[in-house]
Amino acid sequence: MHLLVTGGCGFIGSNFIQHMLAAHDDLLIVNLDKLTYAGNRRNLAEVEASHLDRRYFFVHGDICDQTLVPELMRQFRFDAVLNFAAESHVDRSINDPFPFITTNVLGTQNLLEAARKAGIPRFVHISTDEVYGSLGPTGQFTEDTPLAPNSPYSASKASSDLLARAYFHTYGLPVIVTRCSNNYGPYQFPEKLIPLTYLMASRNEPIPVYGDGLNVRDWIYVLDHCQGVEAALFRGRPGAVYNFGGDAEKTNLQVVRTILRLTGRDESLISFVADRPGHDRRYAMAFTRSTADLGWTPAYSFEDGMARTLAWYQANAPWLDEVQSGAYRQFMDSWYAERKA
Ligand code: NAD
Ligand code: TYD
Repeated sequence: MHLLVTGGCGFIGSNFIQHMLAAHDDLLIVNLDKLTYAGNRRNLAEVEASHLDRRYFFVHGDICDQTLVPELMRQFRFDAVLNFAAESHVDRSINDPFPFITTNVLGTQNLLEAARKAGIPRFVHISTDEVYGSLGPTGQFTEDTPLAPNSPYSASKASSDLLARAYFHTYGLPVIVTRCSNNYGPYQFPEKLIPLTYLMASRNEPIPVYGDGLNVRDWIYVLDHCQGVEAALFRGRPGAVYNFGGDAEKTNLQVVRTILRLTGRDESLISFVADRPGHDRRYAMAFTRSTADLGWTPAYSFEDGMARTLAWYQANAPWLDEVQSGAYRQFMDSWYAERKA
């Protein structure tokens, strides 16, 4: 089976490629990645060392490229496209929405169009629970919840989901959309809450908690998400949407306190800062369709997933040092100073 994975050098994509190559002998994977600040080829160094000449190919390129994308599809005759590539951080989308529209909307459109012209038999588009907007204190998102995105990031993802839907209905392209809650695990870039908190705690630096810290997210260990995407690839129904969640609703303060406890740090590191503009209050996912149709449920508890995640970050200090130096540090410092003011 020939797969085109986009954004495979990012957090979830790199976990997905590692998982798929370990689980299946008959795959050839082409990873198309632009290597933005969030993409790191070293996330797949072991895969490159063991599979490069046979089952894994890296292509440095942009999903918006209207020459490269059709050319790859012509050359490799893919059985499926899995679109992980995206600008993925809400705070950055608030600072500058343009790259989000370019990659998440126009890039997805370019992939869908090339897949349609090449007659690709399956297209899995990776999306997020954030497209559903924000919940009150009770209830859960289902696949039928109306889309109501609130940030430039979630609006760009909702737009790409709608394009995927349109390509199914108009052209019959066999598109499946997956929507997942907040992921955590190895290789996550330390701008997102869990790796950022670990990084700050490990340096005894203040941990910025937005607003009152009582916003709720549902947390899922990244391998559970990868197995959900794998199930959607093999067993998903074209035209369907599948939700994945971790059955682990936590306030941000609960998450931060868990990391402080597991790293032996004091709660005095918690620093309340100005809230994120338009901050969604609560996300929660119902995934009964994924269980019924795909046989999928999350396997990792929050406690187990967090223990694995922190152990990975502790064992991979050079990775963390490398990705959070230079431009990253500048971005975080100015963002944090703005919030504190
Ligand atoms: P990430 O930011 O870690 O990685 C994104 C990857 O896409 C990077 O390797 C980057 O270089 C690449 N990329 C960006 N623009 C590109 C372009 N124009 N062309 C080619 N490659 C490009 O993101 P992630 O957290 O791994 O998220 C992967 C996907 O999963 C995204 O579509 C995101 O919306 C979705 N998702 C993420 C979460 C989460 O909690 N992280 C939850 C649900 C869904
Ligand atoms: P984040 O990891 O950015 O994911 P998302 O915005 O996609 O849910 O944020 C998770 C939650 O943590 C969200 O409610 C915002 C909050 N947050 C903080 O309180 N402090 C931080 O430094 C960050 C990055 C996030």
